[in-house]
Amino acid sequence: MQLETPRLILRKPKPADWKDMVEGVGEYDVAKMTEAIPHPYTRKDANWFINHCLENWGKDGYAFMLELKAEKKVIGVLGLRSINHFNGTASTGSWVNKKYWRKGYMTEAKIAVNDFAFNTLKLRRLNSTVSTQNKASNATQLKAGYVLEGVQRKASRSKASGKISDINVYGLLKADWKKARRKLLTGF
Ligand SMILES: CC(C)(COP(=O)(O)OP(=O)(O)OC[C@H]1O[C@@H](n2cnc3c(N)ncnc32)[C@H](O)[C@@H]1OP(=O)(O)O)[C@@H](O)C(=O)NCCC(=O)NCCS
Repeated sequence: MQLETPRLILRKPKPADWKDMVEGVGEYDVAKMTEAIPHPYTRKDANWFINHCLENWGKDGYAFMLELKAEKKVIGVLGLRSINHFNGTASTGSWVNKKYWRKGYMTEAKIAVNDFAFNTLKLRRLNSTVSTQNKASNATQLKAGYVLEGVQRKASRSKASGKISDINVYGLLKADWKKARRKLLTGF
């Protein structure tokens, strides 16, 4: 099972992806914005992540590798995790290789993954938590229609930087996504 957008293939991880993962999340500016990614990031870390995702694929979640069609290279990950079918919810996590930031790749990937979450998996709500210091991720979530529902004080510690931060708690309901999707695709 894979998804496709104009520039990306969103697919299951492959063992050979470790190299692109180390290049992408090995960059401190990427790792420091996440809670769980260590720095430095090694081949062993990437192998662990890939195996973990393959074992959990379709059960706990789907960690989609964002493969750039033009370069046949993995430039990021957008994952759905902690899927709870009874509750109708899942959480998201993501990163993009710094060389490819601000080109609309994450927004493009979200269109495919959010459609998959709401239309195929029939979820009701996506959860997301973002450090209040993470300008890019907060902006990306708001652009995708996420609604800020609160702030948890000193709730997260980044493995890479060791820094503790407040986190913004976001939720995206199917109706929020319908509205944001239309705006992303038609401009209004
Ligand atoms: C957050 C992240 C995934 C965004 O990926 P991206 O492909 O660059 O995002 P997009 O190009 O789709 O940007 C979407 C919108 O977010 C905003 N945005 C993105 N980067 C931004 C930045 N550095 N500063 C301010 N706004 C930013 C913009 O509004 C942008 O839309 P626009 O270009 O039309 O103005 C990427 O910056 C990243 O990997 N950061 C480090 C890891 C991380 O923070 N992961 C998420 C943890 S919660």
